[in-house]
Amino acid sequence: MTEFKPLVFSGVQPTGNLHLGNYLGAIRKFVALQENNDCIYCVVDLHALTAQLVHEDMATQIRSITAAFLAAGIDPKKHIVFNQSQVPQHAELAWIFNCVARIGWMNRMTQFKDKAGKDREQASLGLYAYPSLMAADILVYRATHVPVGEDQKQHLELARDIAMKFNMDFNDKIRPTGLGIDIKVGEEPVHAYFPMVEPLIDGPAPRVMSLKDGTKKMSKSDPSDLSRINLMDDQDAISKKIRKAKTDPDALPSEVDGLKGRPEADNLVGIFAALADKSKADVLSEFGGQQFSVFKPALIDLAVEVLAPINAEMRRLMEDPGHIDAVLRDGGERARTRAEKTMNEVRDIIGFVR
Ligand code: TRP
Repeated sequence: MTEFKPLVFSGVQPTGNLHLGNYLGAIRKFVALQENNDCIYCVVDLHALTAQLVHEDMATQIRSITAAFLAAGIDPKKHIVFNQSQVPQHAELAWIFNCVARIGWMNRMTQFKDKAGKDREQASLGLYAYPSLMAADILVYRATHVPVGEDQKQHLELARDIAMKFNMDFNDKIRPTGLGIDIKVGEEPVHAYFPMVEPLIDGPAPRVMSLKDGTKKMSKSDPSDLSRINLMDDQDAISKKIRKAKTDPDALPSEVDGLKGRPEADNLVGIFAALADKSKADVLSEFGGQQFSVFKPALIDLAVEVLAPINAEMRRLMEDPGHIDAVLRDGGERARTRAEKTMNEVRDIIGFVR
């Protein structure tokens, strides 16, 4: 029994501005994972077409996510940072996966149902096939670990189902190539070409909620800009938004239990804890019994301390789009080499002539 070589892959769509939730929930995790892993981080521009076809600011959005990656501390030399459309092998493997995935599987995807809404006839075929392209993003590198939010769990399960069916259906073709690996799926031994990807969901990353409603996720589509802290917000905007954040009239509790039924207080304490790399209990042992008039200024100072350098670096990078594009081209080239190796193996397994 051997194991697939560990490889981290994740993707972020170039739509809308990145906010604190994206930073604490995803990008900061990406940064931490670089320490001990080989990582590939992708700006998934092909996915951005699934909900809306024409984007006036596509290039700017791609560069802005890339700038956020770099400003947060992702090292594009040690790892790979690129945009998806530079590696056509993603779309090619997605086609093959379209023929592996069953319509019944796709029909279960809750994100499609949410995003398509009532008028499903008008949704693009791409929106429906979205999870198949996502599986291809990951598996074209035979990546093993995928840091994502809770909302992407079902898509990763689909990626496992696709990998499993490919491994099973092509079992007799994979064996003679010597490209497969004996793994265990549960108790069952499987000869696998594609690994069973593992989501990396937990960790200290909090669910960051809206500053205006502690029961709703912080979201780039919320009409009120006061509901979120954008990574491009400057010091004044950050402090204004935290000052205006919804709270309740009570002092902070001394124990985490006391946050129950107080979603806004819970959210602000959670944000403080995440920014300070502490637990909520630590934060409450410091601020328990204090009013928001004391806690909010402390949170503003901390948020500015953590976010201002990222913000400044993003702005600096965005002034030199040529540099960002060069990073993406270099990453794209290295990604392509790896992806083409997989595709050649897949072509051989399927039996295409080349
Ligand atoms: N669907 C992911 C999201 O919206 C983005 C994504 C596309 C992705 N391809 C991926 C994430 C591959 C992880 C791995 O968050």
